[in-house]
Amino acid sequence: MSVTFFSAFLQLTWASSLSFPSDFKFGSATASYQVEGGWDADGKGPSIWDRYVHEFPGDIKGNATGDVAGDSYHQWREDVKAAAKMKLQFYRFSINWPRVLPTGFANEINPAGVKYYSDLIDALLAEGIEPIVTIFHWELPVKMQDLGGWTNPLIVKWFGDYARVVYTLYADRVKTWLTLNEPNTVCDYFYNSGVFATRIKESDFAPFLCNKHMMLAHATAYRIFDKEFRPKYKGKISIAPHALWIEPATPEDEALAELGRQHQLGRYSHPIYSKEGGWPPSVEKVMLEHSLQQGHTESRLPAFTEQEIEFMKGTADYYAMNQYTTYVIRPSKAGDEAGMWFLTGSPELQATLYHPEKATYGTAYILPVYPEGMRKMMSWVKQQYGDYPILITENGFSSTGSQLDDHQRVDYIKNYLEQILLAMYKDKVKVMGYTAWSLIDSFEWMDGYETKFGLYEIDYNHPNRTRTPRLSSFYYSCVIAERSLDVAESCYKKDSSKVSSDDKNEIDKKYSPPVNDEL
Ligand code: BGC
Repeated sequence: MSVTFFSAFLQLTWASSLSFPSDFKFGSATASYQVEGGWDADGKGPSIWDRYVHEFPGDIKGNATGDVAGDSYHQWREDVKAAAKMKLQFYRFSINWPRVLPTGFANEINPAGVKYYSDLIDALLAEGIEPIVTIFHWELPVKMQDLGGWTNPLIVKWFGDYARVVYTLYADRVKTWLTLNEPNTVCDYFYNSGVFATRIKESDFAPFLCNKHMMLAHATAYRIFDKEFRPKYKGKISIAPHALWIEPATPEDEALAELGRQHQLGRYSHPIYSKEGGWPPSVEKVMLEHSLQQGHTESRLPAFTEQEIEFMKGTADYYAMNQYTTYVIRPSKAGDEAGMWFLTGSPELQATLYHPEKATYGTAYILPVYPEGMRKMMSWVKQQYGDYPILITENGFSSTGSQLDDHQRVDYIKNYLEQILLAMYKDKVKVMGYTAWSLIDSFEWMDGYETKFGLYEIDYNHPNRTRTPRLSSFYYSCVIAERSLDVAESCYKKDSSKVSSDDKNEIDKKYSPPVNDEL
């Protein structure tokens, strides 16, 4: 038992219990480009990731591409099988925009792409696994990028049109939706760093234009759903930002930490969840002051109209967040380099970010492991926006190499889930569920295939990309079966786990092994 887990364990057993309420759901997730492969199969159009990995192979570790990845485009039955073996209650996956709409525009639909997601949804439902669908997890169609991508206001309409197509196809069966995955990563991290698929480094305007348009695009997709689909199909919809918890370096830095949280998460939440709507006032003020100091005549954070503010307000049925990590903030000192938001600091906030001293690490250095941040982040959301039920849409541990005995991932899941219990029982946060990132190993963007998050390992040397369960998948299935963190080691350490061999055989029988003509 790790020290963190032990201390939180004591708090929980004193205070409440290690059990999850009956309506708490456990799931796992992947994202289309990271697992699908089939990059140009059956009429799919190119996304900015397809173009990027082919034009700049040297940018990515090991010259990796997502051309084949886990080959889920062909091997998706194996993913359903993995999810079924763990008895997941839901599986979150995303739709690759140009797989369904080859140019991105809604005038031309690709039937093979439509069928792919339709079959996946049906197979999940047949196993009693709820599909949770993300409409955009970063594969912008190239044609749209060439027209300015997320910095072009027209994308608000284009995204709305795409969302309508997706609802028309799947809203009869999909009841939980996410519009955009990590809009703050797309706008702030990607444009400030200049790496990742657009390869555009522009920090003055792009992050903020992108921020504005992503908020409006989300709201448009929500309003379309609400008006045209919800009356018939029901369902709930939200947006999943990267919820980085920001701690003050010293108690005196609390006001700066709060400004940092508003800058990181508030710009992507306040327009939707706050009573007054629009940008967080503290960020609006800092951005205006900084822009004027630079000689601009108005804020680089583009204003919303009153109508837009009303349009965005209340456009989420639950609060979704990807929560992995915590950074520390302090005021910048003379001689500090101008930081890059949200990795090393912010010129606008005159702040420097660094990693918590007591953090530990998996392979992904930018995601320090800091379980307490999970509880603090969840409680902050409640305190800011009220009692929205929270769904943790991603949380996971990175490793490298072939490692089936992934004890560190087991500890990670345990420690973070425990902070979720503390948030629920001690801070009275409403929680819908937890999503372990990721179901299978995947293309980890700039890190290629070296960094692995999977509960299942993928053999990238095998033509079928065979999936093998890691210890963490057995542990997670025990937690799901017990609905508790009070899980005996004997449950998951032997391959017995809660997945009895009878169950396994039955599931195996249902899914015939992949046949070669499907490749
Ligand atoms: C993204 C995933 C990514 C994960 C781990 C999240 O920011 O949504 O696509 O694999 O973090 O880095």
